[in-house]
Amino acid sequence: MSNRTIERNQNDPSQRLSGKVAVVTGASKGIGAEIARRLAMEGASVVVNYAGDRSGAEGVVSDITTTGGNAIAVQGNVAKSDDIERIFLQAANAFGNVDILVNNAGVYKFGTINEVTESEYRRHFDTNVLGLLLAAKAAVSQFGSRGGSIINIGSVASRQTPAGASIYTATKGAVDAITRTLSKELGPRNIRVNSINPGGVETPGTRAADLIGNAFEANMIGMTPLGRFGRPDDIAPVAAFLASDDARWITGEIIVVSGGM
Ligand SMILES: NC(=O)c1ccc[n+]([C@@H]2O[C@H](COP(=O)([O-])OP(=O)(O)OC[C@H]3O[C@@H](n4cnc5c(N)ncnc54)[C@H](OP(=O)(O)O)[C@@H]3O)[C@@H](O)[C@H]2O)c1
Repeated sequence: MSNRTIERNQNDPSQRLSGKVAVVTGASKGIGAEIARRLAMEGASVVVNYAGDRSGAEGVVSDITTTGGNAIAVQGNVAKSDDIERIFLQAANAFGNVDILVNNAGVYKFGTINEVTESEYRRHFDTNVLGLLLAAKAAVSQFGSRGGSIINIGSVASRQTPAGASIYTATKGAVDAITRTLSKELGPRNIRVNSINPGGVETPGTRAADLIGNAFEANMIGMTPLGRFGRPDDIAPVAAFLASDDARWITGEIIVVSGGM
């Protein structure tokens, strides 16, 4: 863990997030880890949140600090308001008030209507929807008068509505709706709220869910004009753009990053 301050050239366009503080939820692996690395590469001080994978989060912090960036790992379940409070307190103590929130933490387990259970419903909605709202609430309280940027990670699933994914698809439909609603509510305070909706991306999560190297992946690639599955580094630069002042006139947008799917 490190919170050392490094000199950044504010005029260098590759350092467009210099002086900014970012919280990335679910950043111990996958898409969140790559977004954390990218925001730090562009100059932000980054809180790498994780739920259970401490060594993954510490690895991301080490990737950032060994290349001269600032990051700390902070454990916390986004679905618990006490944990959210602690994450943002630790962020402020380490780096100052937060300017950027990436709501990336998410779970996905597909299943037919016969497989719907109360516990799977709650696990998905608690993490993917309640967690996102609680983190947004905490971020907004720190943004203050200078505004901020919230980037929600949705999914192409909200519009594709694939068979056998009703709970997950419902959570990501809620994310789309929250992005649009909060953009209107928070725009007057110069807080921008946008979503990135990825297509299929190879991550520890999609590998664990057995979505890679089989008919599911082949089917996804078949629907993708650019002809391949996504990588976390296809998503991260879009998050950095939305976090930056280059996106200052963009809010309430749902940006599909999916190879054209
Ligand atoms: N991969 C895809 O194809 C794809 C496509 C569209 C959208 N997405 C969305 O992109 C996001 C990331 O997906 P991914 O594939 O990178 O996932 P992943 O590889 O499974 O990683 C998930 C991350 O979320 C964290 N997490 C899970 N529950 C949490 C909780 N309650 N509190 C805090 N952190 C929590 C995990 O932390 P620990 O490891 O510490 O438990 C991990 O860092 C999700 O919102 C997902 O729905 C993914």
